[in-house]
Amino acid sequence: MKRGLLSVSELSREEIEQLIEQAMIMKQEDTSGLLPGKALALLFEKPSLRTRVSFEIAMHQLGGYAIYLSPDEVGLGKREPVLDVARVLSRYVDGIAARTFSHETLRVLAENSSVPIINALSDLEHPCQALSDLLTIYEKKGRLSGLTVAFIGDGNNVANSLLLAASLTGMNFHIASPSGYEIKKELLKQGREFAALSGSQIRLTDEPREAVKGADIVYTDVWISMGQEAEVERRLAFQGYQVDAELLALARQDALFMHPLPAHRGEEVSEGVLGDSRSVVFDQAENRLHMQKALLAKALRQGG
Ligand code: CP
Ligand code: NVA
Repeated sequence: MKRGLLSVSELSREEIEQLIEQAMIMKQEDTSGLLPGKALALLFEKPSLRTRVSFEIAMHQLGGYAIYLSPDEVGLGKREPVLDVARVLSRYVDGIAARTFSHETLRVLAENSSVPIINALSDLEHPCQALSDLLTIYEKKGRLSGLTVAFIGDGNNVANSLLLAASLTGMNFHIASPSGYEIKKELLKQGREFAALSGSQIRLTDEPREAVKGADIVYTDVWISMGQEAEVERRLAFQGYQVDAELLALARQDALFMHPLPAHRGEEVSEGVLGDSRSVVFDQAENRLHMQKALLAKALRQGG
């Protein structure tokens, strides 16, 4: 059996809660005996700081190791078809964490590999980020269910995974996006199905002030994601969507500010908010390591 993670929607509420619990335990304990000698390939089509480093350190701390494969080395789909890369790597390693432009590339990798594939970010989702963020929220607030997260900006990969993670775990999800940049319809449909089961509320608006009302967490991400650099018109479309002190003041007094990083100061977030005492962005970054250790232990012990 192999089971990786392409989308948050593959997880149940119980599995997410277990991952959070495991990550919190792994934060305290020696984990070096969990994946002895296991190898993880990091197959990346796009740049990364947090994801690459946290996966590499995670494997080391679990007793295994990681091999980083840069875009130029592999030429995924250019030097060699994606399905052959999947078949070849499956003969060497116990798991693959892949960062791709197209989510479809991940599907092809998963269909053709005999080892678990973990989504390290695609154009559609960033599940490792969302799960780490839930860990951060749980640590700060002591619960998930009943809290409200307000996402301000682009209905992108980070927003998609956060919507699914929130609606699975009973968190309300508000999103304010300009017309044309809303969250994807199929993800919204899935989120609504999860929300109906967990009792959470999903609210869509184009008005940031509306979205942050009553929010326990105000979350934003870049307006131009990796691969969209040519879409300079985005900067215009997102005018008025910056999370600044004035907007954050409309959320609950004890609201957290979250961002997956890298951040563009003066665009989606003001310098002041990023450095505010309510900003937990570096805790989020640290938690990538702990959550990915929990994910890797689960995926590679089962499937590797
Ligand atoms: N948040 C995140 O995934 O960062 P990197 O792109 O640096 O990995
Ligand atoms: N939405 C951003 C997230 C980076 C971690 C991107 O895809 O570039």
